[in-house]
Amino acid sequence: MEVERVQALAYGVLNELPGQFIRPAHERPENSKPIEGITVPVISLSQPDHNLLVKEIFEASNQWGFFLITDHGISPSLIERLQEVGQEFFKLPQEEREAYANDPSTGKFEGYGTKMTKNQDEKVEWVDYFFHLMAPKTKVNFDFWPKNPPSYREVTEEYNKEILRITYQLLELLSEGLGLSGKILESHLGGEEILTEMKINMYPPCPQPQLALGVEPHTDMSALTILVPNDVPGLQVWKDGNWVAVDYLPNALFVHVGDQVEVLSNGKYKSVLHRSVVNKERMRMSWAVFCTPPHEALIGPLPEIMDDQNPAKFSTKTYAEFRYRKFNKIPQ
Ligand code: SIN
Ligand code: FE2
Repeated sequence: MEVERVQALAYGVLNELPGQFIRPAHERPENSKPIEGITVPVISLSQPDHNLLVKEIFEASNQWGFFLITDHGISPSLIERLQEVGQEFFKLPQEEREAYANDPSTGKFEGYGTKMTKNQDEKVEWVDYFFHLMAPKTKVNFDFWPKNPPSYREVTEEYNKEILRITYQLLELLSEGLGLSGKILESHLGGEEILTEMKINMYPPCPQPQLALGVEPHTDMSALTILVPNDVPGLQVWKDGNWVAVDYLPNALFVHVGDQVEVLSNGKYKSVLHRSVVNKERMRMSWAVFCTPPHEALIGPLPEIMDDQNPAKFSTKTYAEFRYRKFNKIPQ
């Protein structure tokens, strides 16, 4: 099926935003501006005082469900190379990218994608993306990965190793924050079977950014999402009834608490509502890694943190079922 790409649209002659991208009035960035004077938490992973680090991560995840990490040990040159190979993919001739087209309607989620409208009322997002599994290796089909540029695979595999290291470290800190043993969240999320998925978001310049959204408000269904953007800001997170804009901080990673960690922690950690806005002049890109349990993992509030005063706030179900319900907008 022919899919119209936002990138092709954006770089054609376009003075006005086509109707399917125009958000209803209350959703438009011009009518829902972020609050000033509040900034998201920034946490150094090299904090030598371990208890303080646990406390910082706890508070950010409890109050925001979102934080930036610095001093995480990923070299700036690796981040730069990751961004280069992603940018190069989006510079390939359109036909070459189309060879990787996904088709979510038939369950083929991996590959090059753009959301389409099914009806006139449904609005779409100002973004094209590339999505593929990174780990575990036994489940990865490298045919879905870009073959061009040729270094895509090597760079992405190296980045994945680093992201897995940080994921396990964060899960340990989050477990300790709940007063539990460091391995508890990791073990419920599948241990070495934890999946990592890469989603490269490409937001072309938009003729009327005040009317559009890059990504509409949502929470991530992952356990954690670790994202690195280019230097064009655009992410906003919801905190106490306001949108808060996330500033660009060179080499920092953006950590989102996702739905699975919210459920496991019985709501102690919040799955952050977030959206992204787009830019008139500049292309924005972001590289989001979703860390998720295997589909068969049973996820529910940890028994260790429940008692008569703290009953379960969430039901227990497989990740596959959670995912099916979320995609089909069935209440959890
Ligand atoms: C997303 O949450 O889906 C994208 C966020 C971003 O691009 O910063
Ligand atoms: Fe997201």
